[in-house]
Amino acid sequence: MFTQKHIEHFSSLETPFYFYDLGLLKKTLEELKKAAPAHYHIHYALKANAHPTLLEMIRNAGLGADCVSGNEVKRALECKFKNTDIAFAGVGKGDKEINFALDNSIFCFNVESMHELKVIDQLAKNKNTKANIALRINPNVDAYTHKYITTGLEENKFGINPYEFDAVLEVLKTLSNLNFTGLHFHIGSQIQDLNPFKNLCIRANEINKWFIQKGFLLPHINLGGGLGVDYHQPETKAVVDFSSYFAIFKQFLELEPSQQIHFELGRSIIAQCGSLISRVLYIKNGINTNFAILDAGMTELIRPALYQAYHKIENISKPNMPNTTKYDVVGPICESSDCFGKAVELPLTERGNLIALRTAGAYGEVMSNHYNLREQVQSVFM
Ligand code: LLP
Repeated sequence: MFTQKHIEHFSSLETPFYFYDLGLLKKTLEELKKAAPAHYHIHYALKANAHPTLLEMIRNAGLGADCVSGNEVKRALECKFKNTDIAFAGVGKGDKEINFALDNSIFCFNVESMHELKVIDQLAKNKNTKANIALRINPNVDAYTHKYITTGLEENKFGINPYEFDAVLEVLKTLSNLNFTGLHFHIGSQIQDLNPFKNLCIRANEINKWFIQKGFLLPHINLGGGLGVDYHQPETKAVVDFSSYFAIFKQFLELEPSQQIHFELGRSIIAQCGSLISRVLYIKNGINTNFAILDAGMTELIRPALYQAYHKIENISKPNMPNTTKYDVVGPICESSDCFGKAVELPLTERGNLIALRTAGAYGEVMSNHYNLREQVQSVFM
């Protein structure tokens, strides 16, 4: 992926920085559009990466937006996503955020509790308007992913549980400022085995049928996101196999012809397009391996520290050299969790070498923070 042209360009830049490959994003969006049946509505999950340059390309490809905060709704609108293409989920929407979304007549609030239904109804009443809502359902389907990014189990804080459905319908009868327009599901993230999506379809069919029996044929069903990427093969698996993913829904999802199908994909669209580029500051001897100390840390890419996530590490200053030496690749932050990889095999690595942490396009820049009073780093596009 990194050509001589990239490396020459990078050499003149201050590190660390996020690098985004716009050609790969274009290709990914094309593959996504090719694989998804034309009647599927795809919302891009801004939480994965909300950089305006990327959002503009994603919006131009015809995707809607999936937001989880008032500021994400604001960013989506600033980047010219249509209000009627914006879904707003989140277990703890604040009044200010709800009011902002009401003022902009978004497509739908994905509501996560009975209490939230009542609050949105009251805030809509205050404005003499109506809010479109979908119920976010907790389907109790295991995504078999890291426990911090599993969301569809009863023990998780997300969504409304099936045992609450009767009570929810009773409450909805009393809430005249809500339009009940859909059901929403999202079982987790970085799901690589497609079986959980099949199980999701089966549960969604059952739950949808239950609502139809109760007299609610809802206009839209949202299956969320969660499709995983291959962190080990950023080159050969640069674009996710969207066809196999959508094939599961084509085969197993049984909705009524009038019902629209929505998705909210984040990581699978943007993860492989980004890398965090840094320089080696120091090499230091350790007991078992050496340490390669980078100028990027957990402040720029927190996933390894938070989820013990793997990101491929490459010394791009030595592109054709064999991996001869093991390094613990660490950042400058004052705690031992600031480690990108242990015993990573690299070519002989020296101060000043450029190191790429791959597959950092999703949940990289958006999760960056200022711990140790670190500065915000720049984004570079090519
Ligand atoms: N919809 C909802 C309601 C979500 O909560 C999420 C992600 C998505 C869609 C998009 O999921 P995706 O297609 O990106 O998997 N920081 C973690 C990931 C957290 C995911 C949160 N929800 C990580 O770095 O792995």
